[in-house]
Amino acid sequence: MTQEVRVAVDTGALRHNVEVLRRVVHPARVMTVVKANAYGHGAVESARAFEEAGVDWIGVVDLDEAVALRRAGISVPILAWLHAPGETFQRAVQFDVTPAISDLAQLGACARAGVPVVHLCLDTGLSRNGAVESEWAEFFDRARSLRGAVEVGGVMSHLSNTSPAEDAHQLAAFLRGVRMLADRGITAPLQHIAASASGQSSSDARLGMVRFGLSAYGLSPLAGRTPADLGLRPALTLTAPVIGLKRVLAGEGTSYGLTWRAERDTRLALLPVGYADGIERIAGNRARVLLGGRLRPVVGRIAMNALTVDLGPDDPTDAVALGDEAVLFGDAEKGHPTVADWAEATGTIDYEVVARLSARLPRSYR
Ligand SMILES: Cc1ncc(COP(=O)(O)O)c(C=O)c1O
Repeated sequence: MTQEVRVAVDTGALRHNVEVLRRVVHPARVMTVVKANAYGHGAVESARAFEEAGVDWIGVVDLDEAVALRRAGISVPILAWLHAPGETFQRAVQFDVTPAISDLAQLGACARAGVPVVHLCLDTGLSRNGAVESEWAEFFDRARSLRGAVEVGGVMSHLSNTSPAEDAHQLAAFLRGVRMLADRGITAPLQHIAASASGQSSSDARLGMVRFGLSAYGLSPLAGRTPADLGLRPALTLTAPVIGLKRVLAGEGTSYGLTWRAERDTRLALLPVGYADGIERIAGNRARVLLGGRLRPVVGRIAMNALTVDLGPDDPTDAVALGDEAVLFGDAEKGHPTVADWAEATGTIDYEVVARLSARLPRSYR
């Protein structure tokens, strides 16, 4: 029994997922993506588990995230792909981080800073970072002229996950870029475009490496496939203790706006977790938690630091006590509601449910 809201992360599940994914994509290499506090799982501890599991690379968004990992002793190669204008890349040298760069300015800055190796990021249709096709000739020419100062260790792009046809279109553009680079005498040792969805579903997209985020945490990137279908184990369980119990009469309501009113006399449990902790306010009257061995509805609006659960009418065979622990989401194989259940209840995707969990919540690792 615990008295605090807790994010419990099963590092054994993280390692297991890496093993599964490695087999799926073999002989391609595996990068695990630990951006955004490792999708809410805790960046350093997750990176450590992935490193122990033998991943080839760790991916992060920016140098801040990369430096934090290095400072914590993570030694596996790290790739960082989003950079502020004016970034000097000196920290990339100091902390041995490989930047994926998107334009001539970044390439020049890397050469000036003495970054030994970069990956070139190509925009093949996502229109985020990455050089667009009309810029490739100049980008690649400059990369060739800077050889000796900075080497091209890889080429990357990112898929929109719109449809197999759209992915194939992007992949074709990417391979055009790889050939253009080869025409200039640069054979990048590592080519990578796939993340979880395409990495698991399309052998064509795997190329030299797959960058796994969601799947590495044991969540499914594929509609209609559960983590268990894919052999994955969700690593994160969010729990909260019951800190209040109350009886309400039929017609009485709970929380702001009284958006829920009891249809019959019932018991309510109060959990000290709310939208300040990253639980979507909209989940009120939609999501369920596991408490006292049963799935129970979250009723009324979710407040900043609390939510209410309907336990049902008095029932001597169904006792819930103060301090009992409710599972908001975890592993369906253990009977928990899932991240996907909460995503569906709130009209979002698994990614957002875990990534928005507040970094303030205590995390425990086993
Ligand atoms: C460039 C890049 N690669 C890989 C990933 C991992 O994606 P996923 O979590 O779908 O595996 C992300 C995350 O959005 C990303 O931005």
